Amino acid sequence: MAKLLFFGMLIAVSSCLSIRDFSLNASNESNDIENVPNHTDYAAVARYVVHKSEWASMGTLSTLKTINGFPMVNIISVADSGKDEPSTGHIYFYLTNLDYTGQDLMKNNKLTAMFSNDQDLECSKNGVDPMEPTCARIMISGSAVELDKSSDEFQFANKSFLSRHPAAATWVETHNFYLCKLDISQIIVLDWYGGPHYVSTEDYYNANETLNGFLYDKFLSNPRQSLDQRGSVNNMHNENKIKIKIEKGNDKVTIEF
Ligand SMILES: *[C@@H]1O[C@H](CO)[C@@H](O)[C@H](O)[C@H]1NC(C)=O
Ligand SMILES: *[C@@H]1O[C@H](CO)[C@@H](O)[C@H](O)[C@H]1NC(C)=O
Ligand SMILES: *[C@@H]1O[C@H](CO)[C@@H](O)[C@H](O)[C@H]1NC(C)=O
Ligand SMILES: *[C@@H]1O[C@H](CO)[C@@H](O)[C@H](O)[C@H]1NC(C)=O
Ligand SMILES: *[C@@H]1O[C@H](CO)[C@@H](O)[C@H](O)[C@H]1NC(C)=O
Repeated sequence: MAKLLFFGMLIAVSSCLSIRDFSLNASNESNDIENVPNHTDYAAVARYVVHKSEWASMGTLSTLKTINGFPMVNIISVADSGKDEPSTGHIYFYLTNLDYTGQDLMKNNKLTAMFSNDQDLECSKNGVDPMEPTCARIMISGSAVELDKSSDEFQFANKSFLSRHPAAATWVETHNFYLCKLDISQIIVLDWYGGPHYVSTEDYYNANETLNGFLYDKFLSNPRQSLDQRGSVNNMHNENKIKIKIEKGNDKVTIEF
């Protein structure tokens, strides 16, 4: 009996480990839709989808003569962390005023960015149409704030962005791009039936907690904290919650009750 329990827990632990590893690899996410945090953990779902996103649909109010005042959209590359690094939740992106999105924001600095859980085809590959409420989408409204080139955050954001978007190295310098962060006004999560949910920015950024096996971090709390220094994850598959400690150095797994 004790032996069975032990094996059951090993299975639970190893499934946590694989989910955890996938969650840290934005370029190599598992297609298992069960990886999405519990749909009632709205802040965690928002962080999950933002973290995996390499780009967002960004809407602005158009300043183009022909459609002045119309909503206008664009694809804007984003990064909330470096490749394979923990999520910060902060949305960093480069803009240029050669582009209509940059021009629109100069006139009216209000935007809404949409992130879909189908970014990596996680919905489609599981037979869920991207428009169905069960394919999570996050709508984040706010304004673009240019980062000060001399700040630590600029260095962090630039490095993170370029690690996810290596091609940007060629256009950032030559086309007067400037690095921005989204100053968030409102977060809407639509991840299940029953309409949209509003998540406070505080809850969103504090979803650095261990949630359903996903580890999150928050910029400035400890941006360089190595994953190896982090320990406990929750067990998302069992009713009984167990805490485990992982020692990555020599492949050891210590289980604590
Ligand atoms: C992350 O993705 C890269 C490239 O696809 C792959 O080589 C690496 O093994 C992945 N890491 C994990 C932890 O899955
Ligand atoms: C993701 O990474 C794993 C482990 O490195 C690899 O086996 C798998 O083929 C990768 N999947 C994709 C879609 O790149
Ligand atoms: C999701 O969370 C709700 C409330 O927090 C809980 O009742 C439910 O059991 C959870 N579902 C899963 C699959 O963990
Ligand atoms: C941004 O990061 C890239 C890659 O690390 C680097 O080459 C570039 O000089 C950085 N840009 C600035 C303005 O620091
Ligand atoms: C989450 O971040 C907040 C603010 O930086 C910090 O106070 C808290 O300890 C963090 N929680 C975890 C579990 O790391």
